[in-house]
Amino acid sequence: MFPLQRHRRLRQNESIRSLIRETHLSPNDFIVPLFVVEGKGVKDEIASMPNYYRFSLDLLTKEVKELWQLGLKSVLLFVKVDEKLKDNRGEEAVNPNGLMQRAIRTVKEAVPEMLVMTDVALDPYSIYGHDGIVDQGKIVNDRTNSFLAQMALSHAQAGADFVAPSDMMDGRILEIRSVLEDAHFTDVGIMSYSAKFASAFYGPFRDALDSAPVDAKDIPKDKKTYQMDPANRSEALKETFADIDEGADIVMVKPGLCYLDIVRDLSNEVEVPVAVYQVSGEYAMIKAASEKGWLDHDEVMLEQLTAIKRAGASMIASYFAKDAAKLL
Ligand code: PBG
Repeated sequence: MFPLQRHRRLRQNESIRSLIRETHLSPNDFIVPLFVVEGKGVKDEIASMPNYYRFSLDLLTKEVKELWQLGLKSVLLFVKVDEKLKDNRGEEAVNPNGLMQRAIRTVKEAVPEMLVMTDVALDPYSIYGHDGIVDQGKIVNDRTNSFLAQMALSHAQAGADFVAPSDMMDGRILEIRSVLEDAHFTDVGIMSYSAKFASAFYGPFRDALDSAPVDAKDIPKDKKTYQMDPANRSEALKETFADIDEGADIVMVKPGLCYLDIVRDLSNEVEVPVAVYQVSGEYAMIKAASEKGWLDHDEVMLEQLTAIKRAGASMIASYFAKDAAKLL
């Protein structure tokens, strides 16, 4: 009770503040998403993601070495697929010599200790821009799962350490785990996007990979039949418990900032690490406001990352990983 307790005593200077600080960020917290394209010498800035790039394999090598130097030890790979290689089923996704498979090998050659995680979903490969197979205006669940499992297997064969299914089909974790087990990839882990919301914050990412749902007859215009309704909370627990039962090693909440209540719920309730994906739109907002001089880039970035960790994230996939690691 005041004046016996004066809370400001513990805030008087940075020395005491750092002594009592509850949440600390470090480069160990981050997973770095990387966008990969075909070509040579390509370092292509993404229009809606200032200072973020798509790399060709030769420059990916350089980037990955730089990340390692900064103490960043895991990457999450995404590929931009040539239009002419896209179809409804994502056949190119299982090409042993496809861009993803070559990217995995490239990272492992550049830095063998780098943890390589790979995106598993059909959208970058889909002519319709959907995460699953489209049939008569619907995204079909079970046929998609068999294909996702083959895709995961192909990534494991190329050397991935973790596969990260981001598609939100029901039962895909079980199917992926079974296929990996049968092929003796018992050490390849699964980071499941278990509570992924149908968010408008993915816009810049879809620009980066040219993977937005197409506007055509009989093609669903959004992903609301598989990604979760942003209004729902208990459903996130249901989804996540199911994925853990099916064999997920790490679960995920996505996006970050608007969903920190979900992060707290999950970190209280589950016994596996909870990852958070701070998505492209969250990155773009900070970049845009700071370009205008309306917000302090570094301060806002660190505040948001700290808040994500404080909410219970064990790790954060973030386009700010490199910027943050340089400051920390
Ligand atoms: C697609 C996928 C998306 C993201 C990661 N994997 C977009 C989507 O679901 O449409 C979004 C990441 C971001 O916005 O940074 N499977």
